[in-house]
Amino acid sequence: MRLKGKVAIITGGGSGIGGAIATRFAAEGASVVIADLDPVRSGNLIKQIEAGGGKATFAKMDAMKYTDAVAMVETAVKTYGKLDILVNNVGGGKGDTLEELDEETWDWNMNFALKPTFLCSKAAMPELLKSKGAAIVNIASINGLLGIGLEAYAAAKAGVVMLTKNLAVKYGPKGVRSNVIAPGTTRTDFWIPAEKADPTIFDRIATVYPMGRVARPDDIANAALYLASDEASFVNGALLPVDGGFTAGTDAFDRAARAGGAGDDIWGKETTLDR
Ligand SMILES: NC(=O)c1ccc[n+]([C@@H]2O[C@H](COP(=O)([O-])OP(=O)(O)OC[C@H]3O[C@@H](n4cnc5c(N)ncnc54)[C@H](O)[C@@H]3O)[C@@H](O)[C@H]2O)c1
Repeated sequence: MRLKGKVAIITGGGSGIGGAIATRFAAEGASVVIADLDPVRSGNLIKQIEAGGGKATFAKMDAMKYTDAVAMVETAVKTYGKLDILVNNVGGGKGDTLEELDEETWDWNMNFALKPTFLCSKAAMPELLKSKGAAIVNIASINGLLGIGLEAYAAAKAGVVMLTKNLAVKYGPKGVRSNVIAPGTTRTDFWIPAEKADPTIFDRIATVYPMGRVARPDDIANAALYLASDEASFVNGALLPVDGGFTAGTDAFDRAARAGGAGDDIWGKETTLDR
């Protein structure tokens, strides 16, 4: 049990990546607070967790509201007596290119993909500071690391990365570690409308990932488990891409260089050392 005795809040924990994190944390002995807008799917997930012998409770909240973030922390403390782990998972994006993005859409992206991480961290910090072995795990995105589209969302997620690093430096000395995961494309309900419109979308997207597939929510949950656990007690301010190698680089240069037919001879058979 890697989180035995810990109390964890997962925002947007009712489904998707957050749901997988809540399930995994509970299976590893944490008491989890599922902080989510949707009581129905959160309730179903809590039943599943309890059926597996885990402990979970619901805090209905909108992660874009500070008063809800404060109430979510109160639920954790009232129900389980303390708070050790906060996973800032709520987020999402819309609107691509400057022409499409109006001011309202820009603000929506900042409010949904960046601000909740600030609001919930601020609300949770007083309790996290009391914990022996506290951790914040933020969920950013590969869009926050590379220019691959969804401009406003990308800027917001880059903000999540920098907020994490600053929290790590300011609160690490006080015992609260902060780290950030950048997931690649992950198959969650978020993608249902896109997949309905285009059933082959994942087959195509999978081809851009070196591992030849998109992520499963469990891939992200496993990384979050490590960062939240005491196994990562010297990991603070780290950015962990969980993207099958997408941000590691690209073979596009190599392919472009060979495209004219030079084949394997393109880089020369002899190395500099041979000469
Ligand atoms: N799915 C992907 O491909 C992908 C890739 C990279 C990063 N991410 C990031 O991972 C995180 C989770 O993504 P997902 O696809 O699992 O999300 P999702 O759209 O499947 O939703 C997860 C949960 O968040 C809840 N929620 C939505 N708005 C909320 C609010 N304002 N307050 C509280 N709860 C709210 C929903 O009820 C739902 O249970 C997001 O930050 C997202 O940006 C996702």
